[in-house]
Amino acid sequence: MYSSKISGLGYYVPENVVTNNDLTQWMDTSDEWIQERTGIKERRWIDPKTGDTTSSMGAKAATIAIERAGLTNNDIDFIIFATLSPDMYFPGGGVRVQDLLGMPTIGALDIRNQCSGFIYSLSVADQFIKTGMYKNILVIGSENHSGGLERSTRGRGVTVIFGDGAGAAVLSRSEEKGKGILSSHLHSEGKHAKELALEGPATGRWVDAIMKDNDPDDVSYYPYMNGQFVFKHAVVRFSEAIMEGLEANKLKKEDIDMLIPHQANLRIAQFIQKKFQLSDDKVYNNIQKYGNTTAASVIIALTEAWEKGKINDGDLVVLAAFGSGFTWGSVVIKW
Ligand code: ACO
Repeated sequence: MYSSKISGLGYYVPENVVTNNDLTQWMDTSDEWIQERTGIKERRWIDPKTGDTTSSMGAKAATIAIERAGLTNNDIDFIIFATLSPDMYFPGGGVRVQDLLGMPTIGALDIRNQCSGFIYSLSVADQFIKTGMYKNILVIGSENHSGGLERSTRGRGVTVIFGDGAGAAVLSRSEEKGKGILSSHLHSEGKHAKELALEGPATGRWVDAIMKDNDPDDVSYYPYMNGQFVFKHAVVRFSEAIMEGLEANKLKKEDIDMLIPHQANLRIAQFIQKKFQLSDDKVYNNIQKYGNTTAASVIIALTEAWEKGKINDGDLVVLAAFGSGFTWGSVVIKW
C-alpha cells in the first residue's frame, strides 16, 4: 500500500479587507465585542466587481498549489472540492475548477461538510492514493460567505464571524514509510443539524414556499447558529478528535509540533491549546485576519504556517475541525 503526502499548498483570499469597524455601517456591533468574543479583527469579503466566486478562488489557490508541487494541471488525476457556499445549487465547485483550469476530463467530487470539509476531503483523497487508484489529487476548500450573509443587526451574531477565501493542497503518492498522512478520523452527530444550518432554499423549504409566505421575519435563507451550544460541543469534540488521532498513532500531546485548528473562534483554539499544554509556537491561528472561512480555514492556515517556515521536514502536524452537521475530525501528518 502507498502512503500520501502533501506535495503542494496554496491559498487565495480576496483583496477587499472588511474591518470590525466597517461592519458598523450595516449593524449595531463593535470592534470591542467582536474581538473579545472571537479574536477577529478583520476578514476578507469578495468585492463583486472583481468577479471572484467560490470556484474561481478555489482555482486560484489550486494553481499555486499545483505549481509548488512541481506539477502541471495535466498531472492531476482527481479533484475534491469542499464548500458550503457553491456558486450554484448544482453542479458543485469541483467541475467548475476542472473547467477553469482546463484540466482533462478527470473526476470531480464535492464534499458538503462545512467547517470539517477540508478534513473530510483530505481523508477521502488519502484513501484513493493509498489504494493506488490515483497519484495526484487536488483538494480544495473554498467559501464565498459574504454573498449569503445578512448585513443587518438581526444577522450580526453570525455575519461578523465569517470571511471569504480558498486554500488548496495537492496530495501525492509516496513510498516513504512513516511519513505523510498517518491517520484520519471522521465523525458526525446529525441530531444537532439545525443548531448550525441554512435551511432554505432547499427541497425542504423551496423558493415558492419562501415567496408564498412572504414573511418579513423569515430568515431561513440565512445561516442560523446557536452560538453557545455550538461552542460547548466544539471544545469537547476538538479535544476528542485530536486525542483519537494521537492515540491511533501511539503518540502523546508532547509529540505535536504544529496544531492547526479550524479557525472558528480564537477562544476555542486557546482553550484547546491550554488543554493540550502547547506553547504558542505549536498552534497556528489566523482568524484575526480572515474570520471563519469554514472549509477553507484549515488549509489557508496550514499554507500560511508552512510559508512562514513554521512546518519543517519530520514535524508532527495535527489538523482538527468541528462544525455544522455536527461534523468533526482530525488528520495526523508526519511532514
Ligand atoms: N455585536 C454586538 N452584540 C452582539 C453581536 C455582535 N456581532 N452578536 C450577538 N450580540 C449580542 C446578542 O444579541 C446578545 O445580546 P443579549 O444578551 O442582549 O441578548 C449578546 O451579544 C450575547 O450573544 P451570544 O450569541 O450569547 O454571544 P456568545 O458569547 O455566545 O458569542 C459567538 C457568540 C461568538 C458566535 C460564540 O457563541 C461562538 O463562537 N460559537 C461557536 C462558533 C463555532 O464554533 N462555530 C462552528 C464552526 S462554523 C460552521 O461550521 C459553519
